[in-house]
Amino acid sequence: MSSVEKAFTPVQVGSKVLKNRIVMAPMTRNRADNPGALPTELMALYYAQRASAGLIVTEGTQPSIVGQGYPNTPGLHSSEQVDAWRRVTEAVHAAGGVIFAQIMHSGRISHSDLHDGELMPLAPSAVAAEGQVFTTKGMQDFQVPVAMTEEDIHQTIEDFRHAAQNAIAAGFDGVEIHGANGYLLHQFLSDNANLRTDEWGATVEGHIKFVVEVTRAVVEAVGADHVGIRLSPANPFNSISESNIEATYTQLVSELATLNLAYLHFMENPMQNGLIKKIRDLWTNPLIINTFVADRSKGRNDLESIEDGFADLVSFGQLFLANPDLPARLENDGPYNVADPATFYGGGAEGYTDYPTLN
Ligand SMILES: Cc1cc2nc3c(=O)[nH]c(=O)nc-3n(C[C@H](O)[C@H](O)[C@H](O)COP(=O)(O)O)c2cc1C
Repeated sequence: MSSVEKAFTPVQVGSKVLKNRIVMAPMTRNRADNPGALPTELMALYYAQRASAGLIVTEGTQPSIVGQGYPNTPGLHSSEQVDAWRRVTEAVHAAGGVIFAQIMHSGRISHSDLHDGELMPLAPSAVAAEGQVFTTKGMQDFQVPVAMTEEDIHQTIEDFRHAAQNAIAAGFDGVEIHGANGYLLHQFLSDNANLRTDEWGATVEGHIKFVVEVTRAVVEAVGADHVGIRLSPANPFNSISESNIEATYTQLVSELATLNLAYLHFMENPMQNGLIKKIRDLWTNPLIINTFVADRSKGRNDLESIEDGFADLVSFGQLFLANPDLPARLENDGPYNVADPATFYGGGAEGYTDYPTLN
């Protein structure tokens, strides 16, 4: 069987049997343009259009007001948000899809202006990220975040638990915990954002503890079959620096493996030095790879990691954004619509629900 054929065979992820091994990667699109951070009808259409994916992972959704990192991202902390998300999950299920909600706490990649000027961003330590963030008042420098107290840490773990319960109440098939790309969980894993000397930092055990405890709480709340996690070792995005990568991630993945999660969503990156081989040995449950491409277009080639045995599923971001019927196009080997970055973050239907299908 060729790699491309295998990508179109079913695979069990948690309690679901997915129709293929092609995953829509989580993508923030900033279209929850209302005061309650509610998902909209347009968002329901966007996700339903992409229901031919084996699995859809939503854009990052904040588990609390302070966890929001960008304007117009949807939340999963209020009952109104649960009701609004139900329309999204119903539309996706009616179209034959399976959908997990990504729970994303942005930590220091945020700004108090996103929280009515009242709540300062929270992070493991009071160290600002370098650069600027897009806020309701335009681009602004990152603020020095508030170093989380023990109480903040426990409250945030509770917020993840509550958001996961809300996701299930809204009809999601599960949740993906965002442990990647320089947001709160990744900040705890890093050396430059986490300067703590207590049990939540300092050693490898300390650096991984918050990620493990969040995951444990979410598993307790909704069951391991409904929980995946995303990790991006060695990804410097959002001012992250990690020195102890192999020790940190092998220990983290070993701990997470004991929780029997639905999947691990691993973002490849050229600085990882073959870490994926070690991770694959440690992780016997489904592994989704988000393949890294620097100098070529993504497409059918990326499905080869399924045949190679490194991945059970492969996720696509930009290609899924621009091609609502991506599995059919991968099967055909194209042609592909090209994504327009000008419409990635915010706006309406243009560059969102108007990418054409093959037929
Ligand atoms: C517009 C856009 C928004 C994104 N938002 C998120 C997000 O909310 N959560 C996340 O984990 N990754 C996010 N990503 C990263 C993608 O999930 C994916 O890892 C990245 O685009 C690389 O995969 P690709 O080459 O297939 O696009 C985003 C990417 C894009 C292009």
